Amino acid sequence: MVLSSDEIRQKYIEYFQKNGHVNIEASGLLPQGDSSLLFVNSGMFPLVPYLLGADHPQGNRLVNSQRCFRTDDIDEVGDQRHTTCFEMLGNWSLGDYFKKEQIHFWYTFLFDELKIDPTKIYQTVFGGSDTVPADEESIKYIQEEFAARGVTAELGPKTTGEGEVGPGVECDFSKQRIFQYGADKNRWQRGNVVGETGGTDTETFYDTGKEHNKSFGEHCHPNCDCGRFIEIGNSVFMQYKLTESGREKIERQNVDFGGGLERITMAVQWTDNVFKTDVFQPYIQLLADKYNISYEDNAKDVEVIVDHIRAVALLIMDGALPSNKDQGYYLRRLIRRVVTKLQLLNVDKQAVHDLLDSVIEKLGVGYPELREKNDEIKAVVEKEVKSFSQNLKKGLQYFEKMVGDKNEVDAESAFMLQTSYGFPIELIEEIGNDRGIKVDVEGYKVKVEEHKNISRQGMEKKFKSGLGDSSDQTIKYHTATHLLHQTLREVLGGHVQQKGSNITAERLRFDFSHPAAMTPEQIKEVEDKVNAIVQKGFTVSSQTMETEKAFAEGAIGFFGDKYGPEVSVYTISAPDGSVVSKEICTGPHVESSDNFGTFKITSEWSVSAGVRRIKAILE
Ligand code: ALA
Repeated sequence: MVLSSDEIRQKYIEYFQKNGHVNIEASGLLPQGDSSLLFVNSGMFPLVPYLLGADHPQGNRLVNSQRCFRTDDIDEVGDQRHTTCFEMLGNWSLGDYFKKEQIHFWYTFLFDELKIDPTKIYQTVFGGSDTVPADEESIKYIQEEFAARGVTAELGPKTTGEGEVGPGVECDFSKQRIFQYGADKNRWQRGNVVGETGGTDTETFYDTGKEHNKSFGEHCHPNCDCGRFIEIGNSVFMQYKLTESGREKIERQNVDFGGGLERITMAVQWTDNVFKTDVFQPYIQLLADKYNISYEDNAKDVEVIVDHIRAVALLIMDGALPSNKDQGYYLRRLIRRVVTKLQLLNVDKQAVHDLLDSVIEKLGVGYPELREKNDEIKAVVEKEVKSFSQNLKKGLQYFEKMVGDKNEVDAESAFMLQTSYGFPIELIEEIGNDRGIKVDVEGYKVKVEEHKNISRQGMEKKFKSGLGDSSDQTIKYHTATHLLHQTLREVLGGHVQQKGSNITAERLRFDFSHPAAMTPEQIKEVEDKVNAIVQKGFTVSSQTMETEKAFAEGAIGFFGDKYGPEVSVYTISAPDGSVVSKEICTGPHVESSDNFGTFKITSEWSVSAGVRRIKAILE
C-alpha cells in the first residue's frame, strides 16, 4: 500500500518524537506580530526568537508540520512542483544535535520509514567560498548514509558549468550523488537582517526520471529548473549571526530542517508532479467528474484552481479576509483568479462551492478548525465570488471591446479594469498573456501612484481634524475600545482584527474584520462581557518594550510593519491580577475603572466586504 500524505505527515512527527522531539503547535498563516513578512512562509519563521537564542519552553528538540504560504510562487503554480500554500515538515535542534545526527535522522526517515529508493536521491552541499570552506563534514556523513545502503555516492564535478553552477559539465548520475554549489544555492537565512542567524545548508533532490529539457541548458544538474530534479528537503545548519561588519560565529548551533509534504508525497507516490498526488487528486477528479474538465487538456488552469482553492480555505481559517491590501489582497487575488479561470473554462460558479466542500472535508482531518469554520469560510468566499462575478462578465466584455484590434491594453484601460471591474493587475496581465496581448503595466503603476497621492491628501486633512482631543471622556473611549476589541475576539473568534478606530468625546467607532452581521445575541454578549469587566473593576498599566517581546508576550496589535523597534503596551488587569487585555497602543488610557460608565453598542453594520463597524457609547 502506498502511503498517503496524511500517513507521511504522521510518520514524520512520530519518527522525530521517537527521537526525543516534542511536537509543537503550528502557527496560523498570518504572522502574529512579526512585521517583516505578510505570511508565514517556512516552518522556522515562528521559531525565530528561539533560533536566535531564547529558551523554548518545550525543549531543544522540536518537530511539527507548518502550513506556509508563499506569494512569490503565485505565478509559478502550473509548473508541477510549486504551490502557493504547502505544508512544511520541520524538525529543529536548538543547540542540541548537529550535522551528523540531522543527516542520519533525515535519511533514516526517507529510506527506512518512507522506503524511498536511495538511488533516486541526490544531495547538494555548500562547496565553499572565499571566506567559508566547503562543507566536508556533511559530505562525509551523507556518503556514510548512502554506503550503509549499498549506494555509491561520489562527488559530482565541483564546477558544473560557468562559475560555480550551471549546465556546462556533464554529470554521471549513476555514480555521482553529491553536488557542491556556492552561497546562492547552499546558504540559507531568512532575510539579510543584522542580528539574524543563518548557515550553510544541504538540500535533498528527488530524481523524477524526466528527460532533461535542453532549453534550460546543455546538461542537467540537481539545481537545473527543467523539472527532472525536485527539491524535497533542506537541512540548514545555523552557525553564524549577521553583524554590521559581516558574519560572526554563534555559540549555540541550531539545525533547521524543512521539507514540503506535497513534494515528499510526490516522491513516495512515484510521480513527477505534486498535483498527481493524493493531496490534490480528489479536487482534480471532482472537476473532471462533475464539470467535465479534463486535467490533461487544461493542466495549468486546473492546477491553479485547485491550488488556490486550498489556499483560500486555509487563509480564511487563519483569519484573512478579502480586501485591497496586505494579506487580504492576496486572498482576493486568489479568489478572483479562480473565478476568472472557471469562467474562461465555461464552468459554473457552483464549482467553487463544491471544491471548497471537498477541501474542507479532506483537510479537515488534519485541521478540524476548517470544519468548525465551514460556514464562515463559505460565507466569505460566496460574498467575494458574488461581488466579483457581477463585474467579471462586464469586465471581460469591456476587455474585448477596448482591445479591439489594437492588441494592447493601455494604462488607462488597465486602471479602469481594476477600479471599475475589480480585476487585479496580475489577472489583467494573465488574460492578456493568454491571448498574446500586451498590457502597459508600467503606465498602470504610474496611474495608481497618481491616484494614491490624491487620496493621501484627503487622508491628511482628515487626520489633522481628528487630532488633539484628549478630554476625560475620549480617554475613556480609548480604553473602552481595547475592552471591545478583546471581547469581540472572545465572542466572535480570533479572526477579528482592528481595521480602524475613531474616537470623539461622544462615542467610539471601531472597524474590524468579520464576515457576517453580528446577531443581536452576540451584540448583547459583547456588551455584557465588557460591563462585567467594568463592574468587577480594572486597572491599566503601560510599559515600553521591544516590539518582538511585546508580541512574544501575547500583546495584540495589527498595524503590520508600522511598528518601530519599541512599542508601548497597555495592559488592562482585573482585581485578581489576571490580564483582561494587552494591546500595543500609543494611548492615552484611564488608570482604572472608576466612573467608567455603562458600555452600550449603538450600531453595527458593514463598511466594506468583510469589515464591520461598531459605534458604542459609555452611558
Ligand atoms: N528554513 C528552511 C527552508 O525554508 C529549512 O528551506
